[in-house]
Amino acid sequence: MRVSPSVLAADLIDLRRSLQSMDPSIVDLIHLDVMDGHYVPQLSFGEAYARAVKSATSIPLDVHLMVAAPERECPKYFDLHPAYLTFHAEATHFGVRLAQSIREQGIGAGVSLNPGTPVERLAPLLDHVDLALVMSVEPGFYGQKFLPQSVERVRQLREMIGRRPVAIQVDGGINTANIAALAQNGASIVVAGAFCFQGDSINSRVQALKEAAAASPGS
Ligand code: DX5
Ligand code: ZN
Repeated sequence: MRVSPSVLAADLIDLRRSLQSMDPSIVDLIHLDVMDGHYVPQLSFGEAYARAVKSATSIPLDVHLMVAAPERECPKYFDLHPAYLTFHAEATHFGVRLAQSIREQGIGAGVSLNPGTPVERLAPLLDHVDLALVMSVEPGFYGQKFLPQSVERVRQLREMIGRRPVAIQVDGGINTANIAALAQNGASIVVAGAFCFQGDSINSRVQALKEAAAASPGS
């Protein structure tokens, strides 16, 4: 299981300190939640902040765009070369072309679904993406409660993906109590905000998640 801490839940004005405390052999990715005030009502940060984050860490970035018209927004993140650049399937009619344009940059293309969108919506995109992101809360805030139906959605998606090299990522309300079921059903990356940034060191929180995932039979 790879873990991608969502910095939305961190101290955004003093993020350098959090970033410097992260052990790159433990923390796999850094999840950046870009929200534009349109696709979701909330507004977070954009490419300038993402660039500042990039300059302060060697850990690969995992950019989650919760934005309208992602075909206009995605190119702003190309020069950051994130490991993954993820857009929402609901936000565009041009998902195949958009995924192809992300891949042409040598960046992993990701596509995400809100909890209310049927997983079948992803079928036409699965040959064109590297990552499928199952939102396990409605996008907008960190610290929300995990929606239990997400486990079944992960299982269905795993079946749809078959042998294609597409990783399943789950985002929202992840903790040591729900990660095992996600691992068992085919998730290989989790995003965690509140869980990673509350309390003790981020490295130990990430380790705890990995141990909880590995403790499950079949993970
Ligand atoms: C929600 C974001 C998530 C969020 C995760 O809109 O996409 O990445 O920050 O935070 P937790 O783990 O606290 O739900
Ligand atoms: Zn996210």
